[in-house]
Amino acid sequence: MMKFDSTHGLLKESIKDYQEVVTKLHSVIHEKTGAGNDYLGWVDWAKTYDKEEFDRILQLAKELEEKAEVILVCGIGGSYLGARAAGEMIQGLYPNSKHELVYVGNTFSSTYLQQVLDYIKGKSVVLNVISKSGTTTETALAFRILKQYMEETYGKEECKKRIIATTDKARGTLKELADKEGYETFVIPDDIGGRYSVITPVGLVPLALAGIDIKAIMDGLLQAYNDLNCDDLDKNPAYQYAVCRRILQNQGYNVEMFVSYEPQLRMLGEWWKQLLGESEGKDGKGILPDSATFSTDLHSLGQFIQEGNKVLFETILQVEKPTYDGIVPSDEENLDCMNYLAGKSLDWVNKMAFEGTLEAHEKTGNVPNLIVTIPDMKEYSFGYLCHFFFIATALTCYMIDINPFNQPGVEVYKKNMFRLLGKPE
Ligand code: PA5
Repeated sequence: MMKFDSTHGLLKESIKDYQEVVTKLHSVIHEKTGAGNDYLGWVDWAKTYDKEEFDRILQLAKELEEKAEVILVCGIGGSYLGARAAGEMIQGLYPNSKHELVYVGNTFSSTYLQQVLDYIKGKSVVLNVISKSGTTTETALAFRILKQYMEETYGKEECKKRIIATTDKARGTLKELADKEGYETFVIPDDIGGRYSVITPVGLVPLALAGIDIKAIMDGLLQAYNDLNCDDLDKNPAYQYAVCRRILQNQGYNVEMFVSYEPQLRMLGEWWKQLLGESEGKDGKGILPDSATFSTDLHSLGQFIQEGNKVLFETILQVEKPTYDGIVPSDEENLDCMNYLAGKSLDWVNKMAFEGTLEAHEKTGNVPNLIVTIPDMKEYSFGYLCHFFFIATALTCYMIDINPFNQPGVEVYKKNMFRLLGKPE
């Protein structure tokens, strides 16, 4: 299903030397005995998820099919990035769909919010507010404004159908508000943190509303769970990847650049950055996650990667089969001198750019490259990728004694902001 290639990684240690530590930590993850073990619900989620709730999501998507012209997804961080990463990966940037996902509640920008309000005018809107705590300021503020818009536009009664809340099962401001207003609610499980939650209603509700096959996502997740539930480093590509990161950091590489050759994977890079960055960046440790889209960014960052400070290694996400392909047409006049490519497929050109760049970065630039290959950009692959990166993140963090499931550092800016905003204690 998914391949991992470390042969271009310029590794100075053998992955196999880490077998003993991996075997130990594999048990720590699966027996849930490590730091942050009350947030390991994602590990066997492919088998344990609430099937009734899942059917309720499918039912909701059917019921709202005519109304959900625009689906406003109101959330931030782990309550936002996964849905957007999946939506763009699967449907592309200009989807041929009757249902458009529009993201709000992930910024304080007044300009952005006003532009969204202008954009949705006259369109049939459904609003999914997503917040585990229910108190995240970006989300709560945008939701207050959009809720008023919805009530003015559709009336309170109709809003009971058009507003959906995804939040804690029992506690919190959003849960109370949703129950009082009579909104349909879906649960963010207690034992799954935000950045691991796209496989729960957090991601599944908006994706289902957008017409994405969420059953296939869960099938891919289950396949990955079955394939990767094994401590043998020869057989587990996710663990190989996790170990390579540690080896490369030992060699002095403190930045990892997630690279793809598909613009519709850009948000997957943003999601991956949160997963790795928030999980690993603690106690003065960790690798800084960065991302780029090639060949676009070869015309901006390419120079630095090739010849700049040797701080980074690359992790390339390669796609075997593009969603669409095309053939370069021939041109009688050939004024642009492109006839040498006539008859070739556009994806072949993209793949040659990948191969040429790999050679340039690895052989000439001495930049290590790790390669993860997925068959396509469909639902099943997304589900598979989720478990791959989740389990790799858990291992790679435990290898340096980091709790992968908390994020104490993100509270500092909030404290200062609340003081400046005059928030009551
Ligand atoms: O990964 C995390 O836990 C965070 O990114 C949260 O998802 C984010 O801060 C949003 O939190 P909440 O869902 O409570 O609004």
